[in-house]
Parts: sequence; structure tokens; C-alpha cells
Amino acid sequence: MELHERIFELALTRSFFMPSNEPYGAVSGFYEYGPVGKLMKSRIENLWRQMFIKEEGFHEVETSIITPEIVLQASGHAANFADPVVECRVCKTRMRGDTLMEEKLKAKGGENQGARWDGKLDTIDRVIKENGITCPKCKGELAPAAMFNLMFRTGIGGEQAVAYARPETAQGIFTAFPRLFRNHGAKLPLGVGQVGRSFRNEISPRKGLVRMREFTQMELEFFFDPAEQEYPAMASVADEKMRFQRNGASEMKKTSELVAAGIATNGIMAYFLARQWQFYRAMGIRETEMWLRVLPKEEVPHYSKGNVDMEVQTSYGNIETIGNAYRTDFDLGAHAKFSKKDFSVFVEARKEKIIPHVFEVSMGVDRLFFCLLEHCFREKDVKDEAGNHAPAGASPPAQEGAVGWKLGTGKDWEWFDFPPVVAPYQAAVFPLMKKDGLAEKAQALAGLLRKDFDIFHQEGGSIGKRYARADEIGCPYALTVDYDTLHDDTVTIRYRNDGKQERIKIADCAAVIKKNISEARVTL
Ligand code: GLY
Repeated sequence: MELHERIFELALTRSFFMPSNEPYGAVSGFYEYGPVGKLMKSRIENLWRQMFIKEEGFHEVETSIITPEIVLQASGHAANFADPVVECRVCKTRMRGDTLMEEKLKAKGGENQGARWDGKLDTIDRVIKENGITCPKCKGELAPAAMFNLMFRTGIGGEQAVAYARPETAQGIFTAFPRLFRNHGAKLPLGVGQVGRSFRNEISPRKGLVRMREFTQMELEFFFDPAEQEYPAMASVADEKMRFQRNGASEMKKTSELVAAGIATNGIMAYFLARQWQFYRAMGIRETEMWLRVLPKEEVPHYSKGNVDMEVQTSYGNIETIGNAYRTDFDLGAHAKFSKKDFSVFVEARKEKIIPHVFEVSMGVDRLFFCLLEHCFREKDVKDEAGNHAPAGASPPAQEGAVGWKLGTGKDWEWFDFPPVVAPYQAAVFPLMKKDGLAEKAQALAGLLRKDFDIFHQEGGSIGKRYARADEIGCPYALTVDYDTLHDDTVTIRYRNDGKQERIKIADCAAVIKKNISEARVTL
């Protein structure tokens, strides 16, 4: 079983995520977050807010999803936001022509391995013909490739005013720019970010959360004077080391070296690459399995002065999770032209009006969420003294090396090693048993701690099974109320990764959890 299949099973049974509208049969490309996943997704978004909005002194907005056609004509999406589609003449299945072509060529190996589509429909038709490619489902003949616009179309107040569900959150930030600039200091640079849903009507989405038709983005648009290409806080990240891929070769570089090495177009880009590296590391993505890919010229849009993607290794293959783009004055210039409004700003130092340049950091939340599940997944064997494996559903050992089931290596035991900063619940609270006043005492403790934390609380089943449930959703700490608690107001705190236990006072619980969280925090 592939790792993503196990993750999917756990996701379904532990309420991380599930297909949308399940009773009616899942439609591919749509997923929903259950209570556990929703908590974790919010934590990812909140850490992004902390690092990319609050600590930078930037601003967060929430703009409209339904977007009038003219806005997307200005941005270029109405004309160009399309994928090539081929349709089977027999079973009518539609699929992406570029993916089909690339996969078939890759399977053939040799010189064609790693082939990328050149953007021409003729190329797809020619490759299909030359290689005798037929429908993967029914082997039927394929019709010529055609472009298919990926936006969901709707009408405002009926069908007359054409509009679309936004394909990216960025455009709302660009159209709001003139007012935001006036209201927030009328000075460059200005950083504006947004967390919200975007929509892409993918032809045949696969790979679960990796390719969704409705998904969440965290986008940051940094507006600056092109005469000022440095970032004020650069020194704070100058020594951060990152892995890059350029022209198929891998290299480690420090932030301070990126501009001279021709990797980052300017100091602004270098700074934000370092910050996103730190962001990923803090959440638990393995540094050895992530890298920043410098896009070659042919993949960079004509208006951009440089693009770098974050990619992460998963069991689905390498997936792109962040797009960085130096978008120049393209977007603001286009909106000025189409709206006939003034998007320029007065720069005091130069005594002139300019259209600001934009550097964009665009992150997909759902893909990152999926990568975290894969990168934080852990498994171990659990054996007894005689070397027998734990029976299905057995309790975990109270702590590593304790008499009873022992942790070895293998796969009887599984849990998520989420850093506390993204763990859905920061702590679990359990009564040892549901009698003699223990349950009431545990309820009171859970109530107290909920003022500061998200608390996982369960009363039924053996304590071992409840530890197992807490581990499976990545709870870093579990507090157990037992008979001693009734006399001395202390509880046991158990640590997820090694099962170690300590006795602490109820009055100290919140402080101990806070201290552990702050000690577990990866240095940013
Ligand atoms: N704003 C860039 C993107 O959504 O891909």
C-alpha cells in the first residue's frame, strides 16, 4: 500500500478530511475537512498569518470570490487560463492532453523522459498519432486536443453579467490596491495578504488534496518601488541555508548568496524564500525532502522577472506547493488599463508617480496539509517479551521500554509527529476510569485548559486505547486524571513520541503545556 493510501484511510477514520457530499457519491477534486483537519488547517493558516502578516507589519484582507468577467479579462485569465484537453471519441472521457502525452513519453523512457509540453496543441496531436496513444480507459480513438478554460463560470443576478469564481485570491488584492495604499500610509513598500478559497475546474483531478477544484490559498502580494530591490529585514535571515534545483542540478545556498548566484532576482525574493523555508521547517516538512526549483526561462511568464517554486517529495511524486513570482507592474498596469482608474502612486524620494512592482508568494494550503500528513507520519512495531507483535487495536506501551509491549521498528503502531504549532489538539485529557469521580475531575480539567488550548477529551474505552487515539491525531501531550489526583491534585502528563510520563500539579498544567510548546518550537 502506498503511503498516500494509508494516509487517506487515517484521514477518513480520524476526521482529517473526506470527499465532499459523500452520500451522493464523491465528485473528484472536492474534499472537506473534518473537525480534526479543520483545527490543523486553521493552525497552518495562523502560523502563516503570524510569519507573513503580523511579524512583517503587513495587512490581511478578505475579498470577493465571485469576480466580474472584466477583472479576469484584465488579468489574462479569461483568455489564457486554460489546459489542453483531449476527449475519447468512444467513451467521451476527457483528460489533460499534456499529462497524457508526458506520461506516455516518460513510460517509453530514453530521450523522451522528462519531456514537457511546448504549449502547442499540434504537438499533442502529433505525439498522440506518432505513438499510437489511445484512451487509457477504453482504448478508443482520441479527438484532436482543444483548450479548455479552467474557470467556473456564473452570472450575477441572472445570466447577463458574466462572472467567475476566482481562480486565485491575488486579483482581489490587486483591485483593492489603490484604496489600501491610500488608507494605510500611502507609502511603499506595502504588503497585503489573503487566505481564501479559489476555484479551478480541473479536467480530471487526481491525487486527493494535491489537485482540487476548490482549494485554499494563502497569498502575499508585496508592492514596492522597483528602484528599491532590497528587503529591510534581510540581515535576520542572511545565514539561512536552503536547497535549490536549477537546470536539474541541486545546490545548497545561503540567503545572502542568492542574488549574486543568479537564483533570486533581488533581495526581496531572497528574503521571502528564506522565510518560507523557515515556515515549512517549523511545521514539520523534512528539509531533506523539500527544495526550491528555479524555473527555466521557458516556464517563466513573459511579464515576470523570475519564478521559483517550492517542491516537496511525497508518495505521489514531487509536488509544487508554493509559487514565487516577481510579477513586475503587470497586474496593476493591466487593471489601470481595463478599469481606466489610476493605480500609480507618488514616490516622495523620486518626486514622481510610478506603478508599483509586485513580488508574490502564493501558497496552497491543502497541498501543504497533505505533505504534513505524509512527512509527520510515524510507525513502529510493538512487541511483547517473547517477540510477538501486538494484536490489532492493542494499547501502546505506557512508555518506551516498559514491561508489556515494546517499541521496536515496523508498523504495528502509527502516529503523527506534528510539531505542537500545527497539531490539531495541543493536549488530551483523560480520566483513568469513568467512575469514582475521575470523569468529573477530568471534565473540569479539560474545561479549564480549553481557555488556552484545543483539548481532545475522551472517557470511554481503556486508557491505552485512548492514548492510541490521541497519538493517531498527533496530540503531543496527554494528561490523565487518576486516583492520586483525588488526593493531591496532580495528574500524569504523557509525551506522545516516547511515551515518557511525569507527574505535575493541575495548577501547573497550562504553564507546563505552554513551556513544552515553546521549547518544541523550531527556531524561526
Ligand atoms: N496567484 C498565483 C496562483 O494562484 O497561481
